[in-house]
Amino acid sequence: MNKTSIPLVRTFVGDEEIEAVTRVMKSGQLAAGPEVAAFEAEFAATVGTKHAIAVNSGTAAIHAALEAAGVGPGDEVLTTPFTFAATATPILMQRATPKFVDIDANTFNADLDRLLAAAGPKTKAVIAVDLFGLPVDNGALAELRARNISVVEDACQAIGAARNGVAAGALTDVGCFSLYATKNLMTGEGGMITTDNDEIARSARRFRQHGQGERYEYLSLGYNYRMTDLAAAIGRVQLGRLDAINAKRRKNAALYDELLSGIAGLQTPFVPAGVEHAYHQYSILVDGSRTQSGVGRDALRAQLQERGIGSGIYYPTPLHLNPLFANLGFAAGDMPVAERVATRVMALPIHPLLSEEDVRAVAGAIREIVGA
Ligand SMILES: Cc1ncc(COP(=O)(O)O)c(C=O)c1O
Repeated sequence: MNKTSIPLVRTFVGDEEIEAVTRVMKSGQLAAGPEVAAFEAEFAATVGTKHAIAVNSGTAAIHAALEAAGVGPGDEVLTTPFTFAATATPILMQRATPKFVDIDANTFNADLDRLLAAAGPKTKAVIAVDLFGLPVDNGALAELRARNISVVEDACQAIGAARNGVAAGALTDVGCFSLYATKNLMTGEGGMITTDNDEIARSARRFRQHGQGERYEYLSLGYNYRMTDLAAAIGRVQLGRLDAINAKRRKNAALYDELLSGIAGLQTPFVPAGVEHAYHQYSILVDGSRTQSGVGRDALRAQLQERGIGSGIYYPTPLHLNPLFANLGFAAGDMPVAERVATRVMALPIHPLLSEEDVRAVAGAIREIVGA
């Protein structure tokens, strides 16, 4: 086996993160305490929302947001099938029904016209995903909100992104972040809910803490979704690095754009006007029927791997075609755009530890293999 010399993912951890964890370990306060409170305040200031509520995963954040939106049995929640499962599994956790809507061929986000057409009397909420770090179109989503449908922003991949000057996580009623180890800002595992709405914030704080009002006063079903001070201490250091990390990702993306544009059978990421992309992923589409060499996505990945270059597929199978969602009654062909994109999409290394030579090496290898 060839050892990968340019891996798909590398996490940035410096001495400061290690020192922060050591400080918390020595303090004796490991569970939620002052570090979590400080991280929440700093995170809210970064996103520009009144509240930030720390939890222990992005999944927990989305679950709490749905609870705050009042989603329950009998309700429908619209979302995209082209995402990680945890966008949609919290809908099942609330015993509501996911309704998938096909995606836009350029942004890979849920198609807004289809969302509007699919919204009906049972639609309680929409989960809009800032896929790969490209924030949703808040202007278009306003029409759903006007119909009294809550819009949850799955900003799990989009910390530091913005649309028309508004930060991801502040674009709708409530934003949900993942701080998983590979995210642009990470705490190992972790999550954050952002909102300007006092009621949503109150509900989320209760939900993460066993539904308690006063201590040992159980008002509603809740969970243990609390973040630790250890995780928060890492996150606070990472917040200080966020601009530099995202600037490096954007620089890498701009170089890929330049080196990979205009190649038959290859499509680089589309970025709408007014969008500041966070490039959690830099995903291209490869159409093997149009590349000069006839090489398609899977063969390209295999040949890159032989040269020591990692790549990934997000996501190989749209959610509606997974066994977990089979009972919703969707079949192959129901979401043609998502299904087509899933066969062509591949993510290139974009992490901040790549050198310019790395990016040039990846792009050069791709050009050679597809015959550009
Ligand atoms: C789009 C999306 N939604 C939800 C999640 C769930 O986040 P977590 O893994 O922190 O639970 C992730 C993270 O992997 C994600 O990428």
